[in-house]
Amino acid sequence: MSELDDLKTKYVKQIEAASDLASLDAIRVAALGKKGEISLQMRTLGQMSPAEKKVMGPALNGLKTEISSLVESRKTTLETQALNIALANETLDMSLPVPTPQGRLHPVMQVMEEMAVIFADQGFRVAEGPDIEDDFHNFTALNFPPGHPARDMHDTFFLKPDSSGNKMVLRTHTSPVQIRTMMSQKPPIRIIIPGRTYRCDSDQTHTPMFHQVEGLVIDKTTHMGHLKGCLMDFISAFFETDVEVRFRPHHFPFTEPSAEMDVRYERVGNEIRIGQGDEWMEILGCGMVHPDVLRNCGLDPDEYQGFAFGMGVDRLAMLKYGIPDLRDMFAPDPRWLGHYGFSPLLQANLATGLS
Ligand code: DAH
Repeated sequence: MSELDDLKTKYVKQIEAASDLASLDAIRVAALGKKGEISLQMRTLGQMSPAEKKVMGPALNGLKTEISSLVESRKTTLETQALNIALANETLDMSLPVPTPQGRLHPVMQVMEEMAVIFADQGFRVAEGPDIEDDFHNFTALNFPPGHPARDMHDTFFLKPDSSGNKMVLRTHTSPVQIRTMMSQKPPIRIIIPGRTYRCDSDQTHTPMFHQVEGLVIDKTTHMGHLKGCLMDFISAFFETDVEVRFRPHHFPFTEPSAEMDVRYERVGNEIRIGQGDEWMEILGCGMVHPDVLRNCGLDPDEYQGFAFGMGVDRLAMLKYGIPDLRDMFAPDPRWLGHYGFSPLLQANLATGLS
């Protein structure tokens, strides 16, 4: 029995002295592993006389249990110690500044976000639709009947006709999303529609792909006064200064009456200053939604009415941020984006400023 006592004393001492998990495990293997000292002792039980076995069996089993529970509890202590050391050393300083991001937000993206923020403040939400449209949504439902001359003014890109002769188009404006929204939702409707649009046109002031933001309000009481107030508030908020505007009668097939909104501006050297001055610049088209368009969407014009507007985002971005050439906007040059782009970490908002 004293042999077992010696074994116990030896391992208890070693376990207490173990300073890391690796040496503790080596001690466990030496005592309790397949060829460990205690395991080898247990194998001798088979050759003992029944009387000896009766004494040695429980003694050896007790020793085995005691040593393994000592190993376990030492293991827990060492693990806790290791964790505490790691927690003390591996600190993360959350006050460190974020490194300047390499990517820049394109001015078109920035301006679309600014517009969404301003219109959200007026209670609009954002709606979207497909770039590839059918003739019905892009033209017919918007009161451009087949053969109507206004269709030709859109310089439409047509896709190859399908087997039944149907030609899809790249949408020439964001107005088809008005139709999609009115056909799928019950008024009141109050949406803006930012998106890409396409026309077969390319020169200093036109690119085959460009961007528009459309607006649509439908309910039972909205009138032309609301349209004017909405757009006047928008344009001053957008240019972050008081902007004088005028509404000129115009024609669009899908609105009646229709108007274009001009802003006052002046030219100082090479610079264009929006707000005051002696000249007028056309900024957007608008009007009261045509009763035929409401009917085409299944709405009764005797019950519902509202207004719509549409504007070119790229030109507004050029005017606000002094970008001289439209075509540079879509030439993917990182130097241009480095100069005209915006930090992706500063989001446009009305509380601390749009840009
Ligand atoms: N869809 C027109 C265009 O691309 C712009 C427009 C004008 C949209 C008047 C409207 C509107 O919603 O009321 O030329």
